[in-house]
Amino acid sequence: MRQRIVVTGVAGFVGSNLTKRLLDRGYPVIGIDDLSAGTAENVDRCVEFHQTDIRAPEIYPLFEGADAVFHLAAKTCLPECVNNPLEAASMNVMGTLNVLEAARRAKVRKFIYADTSAEYEGIYEFPTREEQIRPIGVYAASKHGGATFCESYRELYGINVTILRYFNVYGPAQDWRRVIPPVMSSFIIRLLQGERAVIYGTGEKRRDFIYIDDVNDFHILVLEDQRTDGKIFNVGSGTNFSINEIFELVEELLKTGLRPIYNSDLPGEAQITLADLTAATALGWKPRVAIAEGLSRTIEYLQSRVLAAKVSFPGAK
Ligand SMILES: NC(=O)c1ccc[n+]([C@@H]2O[C@H](COP(=O)([O-])OP(=O)(O)OC[C@H]3O[C@@H](n4cnc5c(N)ncnc54)[C@H](O)[C@@H]3O)[C@@H](O)[C@H]2O)c1
Repeated sequence: MRQRIVVTGVAGFVGSNLTKRLLDRGYPVIGIDDLSAGTAENVDRCVEFHQTDIRAPEIYPLFEGADAVFHLAAKTCLPECVNNPLEAASMNVMGTLNVLEAARRAKVRKFIYADTSAEYEGIYEFPTREEQIRPIGVYAASKHGGATFCESYRELYGINVTILRYFNVYGPAQDWRRVIPPVMSSFIIRLLQGERAVIYGTGEKRRDFIYIDDVNDFHILVLEDQRTDGKIFNVGSGTNFSINEIFELVEELLKTGLRPIYNSDLPGEAQITLADLTAATALGWKPRVAIAEGLSRTIEYLQSRVLAAKVSFPGAK
């Protein structure tokens, strides 16, 4: 029997997908989420689930006997972070600190922190490498604060921390119910419902998109391979697409004939993201799911789960 893994943010997009992979591989999962953004239906029935805020001391006993922690819980909605920086810092900095403290007390073997490519917001050389960061916005600064405490706990208390800087992860279970949902889910749902997709700005911003299954391959490698101990890794695909190109790819698959609507730009977003994958690929990992395949799988999920359940989409008119 494998040892228990704690996953914070288990009801969110990455957490719920990661949990399925861990369970398939035989790891028992203790899941923590306050359901502030995630949903109960995302939580697998085999998870020992605790609906708790990561900032509460009540989480400490849940870490006892755990082998590793994936710390994913965070305030991830950028506009909400901008509107409420104190809450963003409270969740992403203080919350992370409390999870680190729980891991320290329980002497957990490995701590894996979900960092972000937003750390590279002020860097204009591409592809971006792990060594040089410049977080600017509230979300980036708050995730950076969490990462900084991870490094402090490594230095001061010898916690074995690995930091993963995800680029734009996409796939099934992504939070499509937000007012401004992640771009792919937003396009797919609107087109499936016969609505025109909305693009903010010119659509020429470029993003490095990585399919969730590829991220999970890397999660398992990080969990099981000691070469990743104490390191920082970019987790992206190493290629990028403009938002307009993504729209065309989705439209090629759905063939609706509906053209997008262009709205005013969203402030505070990087123009380009592109990951340098030298560190991750040196371990034998590489992304395998091409964009068209990833989009087809995402469409299949949204068609079968979301539209079949006739759940309404907030952006739909
Ligand atoms: N999805 C991406 O493309 C991406 C990119 C870069 C970084 N990340 C990072 O990966 C992690 C997971 O992202 P995601 O896309 O799954 O986000 P998500 O919003 O879908 O999931 C986050 C989960 O954390 C939970 N949560 C928030 N605050 C909490 C609190 N105080 N206590 C307990 N639970 C709380 C939410 O309810 C939600 O279920 C985050 O740390 C995010 O910063 C994600």
